[in-house]
Parts: sequence; structure tokens; C-alpha cells
Amino acid sequence: MMKGSNKLPKYSMLKHASVEGSLPLLSAITQESLDSASSFEPEPGDVFVITYPKCGTTWMNNILYLMKNNGVTVEEGDNIANYFPFIELIGGEATKEKPRPRFIKSHLLFDILPQSSNAKYIHVARNPKDCVVSFYHHTVGYEQFYDWNDGKLDDYFEIFMAGGCDWGSYFEMVPRWYERSLKQDNILFLFYEDMIVDLRKEVLKVADFLGPSWKESLLRNNEEILDKVLENASFSAMKAKQKRYFYSPRPKDRPFLRKGAIGSWRDELSEEQSKLIDLKMAETAQKYPDFENVRV
Ligand code: A3P
Repeated sequence: MMKGSNKLPKYSMLKHASVEGSLPLLSAITQESLDSASSFEPEPGDVFVITYPKCGTTWMNNILYLMKNNGVTVEEGDNIANYFPFIELIGGEATKEKPRPRFIKSHLLFDILPQSSNAKYIHVARNPKDCVVSFYHHTVGYEQFYDWNDGKLDDYFEIFMAGGCDWGSYFEMVPRWYERSLKQDNILFLFYEDMIVDLRKEVLKVADFLGPSWKESLLRNNEEILDKVLENASFSAMKAKQKRYFYSPRPKDRPFLRKGAIGSWRDELSEEQSKLIDLKMAETAQKYPDFENVRV
């Protein structure tokens, strides 16, 4: 709870799904789809894109799509989501039917998402301060899922800190995936901030991780494809084509591609809130010691 506040977090405004256990989930997710997702059996060649929400999921999806399609962006009228089945939403059975190689999107905890040493997992993390601000703006006015039209960032912040946002606690999900990525070479752990600073370097890391044919195809013709990938994955290019990246109807003044920046939390979080996140990160590093060196 924030100092000086005697309110309890307003969990009810988030209309969570009635899924058993303690993980709060988007109301569109059912127990059935979650169970079906948990029993999915990954195959060699499957590539999962894993994030805590608002940490760069769609950006990474677009990068992979572009890498696979010679740098050519998803067409008008189509949507990137069609190529990245959201496993906990559509379930494992529907995901099974998708064309190979399968790219699969998930925000699930390491211990819930089906694991296989033959599949690859790309995790993108982001500074929790920018994450909570982005998540708040995502939630406001999204009437299908949330009664949050006049919700305040201060309330949302409390929910985030208490692990009550959809998909639970950032401070459990992200460090656990990080910890596993140090032990498993089939998990690539990337940072949104590094992507902002040097996207070329991070895209090449992805290609190296996926295998030689991916890298060869990216670098052929004097790096022509790589240049196209970088151009079409830029914030300005994606913002110009927003609808292709996010198909759920959103209020006009709430674009999905919002700021796309590092540190924009400074305009919206108080000093006290910033300190509370610093404290929480320090506590998190006690539980997950590897996370101590992570400077998000
Ligand atoms: P902001 O709300 O801070 O702008 P997700 O896809 O996981 O929901 O993440 C959404 C966040 O990623 C949004 O952050 C969005 O603007 C940002 N994003 C998406 N594409 C981006 C890009 N090409 N460059 C930088 N940020 C991007």
C-alpha cells in the first residue's frame, strides 16, 4: 500500500477471469483455455515469444514476422496477431493446428507454460516503471475488458505492486524467466531498453539464437533484408501502421503504439512510487539473486 493511503487495491475493476489459483488473468481467458494451454506439447521448431504484458511483445512479434518474410510488413487488412497465436487465450488444441514453424505468444509464468528443450523461448523484459505506466494506459478505456474508464494511475500502481494486474506479478514472472535463461540455452532473454538503444544488435542476437539459416537470410544481398527488418520494426513505421499490430478496438485517443520510449515513467510516476519500485526490485533480488545484476 502506498504511504498515506488507506484504500485497498480495486481488483474488481479489472474483471479478472475466474481461473482457479492465484494468477489473475484477462477476463477473456477461461479455465478451459488455460488448461488446454498447459497441456500443449511443444515441438522442435516452435518459437515462443514471452513477455510480461507491455514489455515489447508486439515489437518482437513484428521483428520475427519481418525476419521470416524478407522484411516485408504484414499487409493492410491483415494483423500480426494472426501469426502469433496467444496460447492461453486460444488454448493448446487450436495452437497445435497452426502452420509450422509455429510462433506462439504468451505472458505465462515459466512454471505454467509448457517447456520443451526442443522449443525456443524469446523473453523480452522492460523496466517495471515504464511497464506499469504503459499497462495503465493500455487498461484505461479498454471497455471490453476493464471497468477502468476513470481509473487513476495511483490505483493501478497499487494493483501492479500487489501483483494484481492481469498475469500477476511482474516481480515473480520476469526474474523467474531470467533465472531460467541463465541455465537453459533455449531461452533468449532480451531487454526492451537494449532494443531501443541498438535494435540491429538485438535482431542479430535473435537470428543467432534461431539458427544459421535465419542469420544467412537476414544478411544476404549486402544486408538488404536486415535493413528492411530494422526499417519496418521502427517505432515510426509501426505507429504509421498501428492497426496491423493491434486489432482489438481501442478508444481513438488511446493508441497502442503510445510513446515507445525509455523513461517516460518520469512524467507520470511520483518520486515515492519510483522509490517503491526500487525497493521492490531490491527485495526481488533477494528472492532471485541472479536478478541483482539486472539493471532494468
Ligand atoms: P508504451 O505504452 O510505453 O508506448 P506490448 O506489445 O507488450 O503490449 O508492449 C507495448 C509497448 O511496446 C508500448 O509501449 C509500445 O509503444 C511499445 N512498442 C511497440 N512497438 C515498438 C517499437 N517499434 N519501438 C519501441 N516501442 C515499441
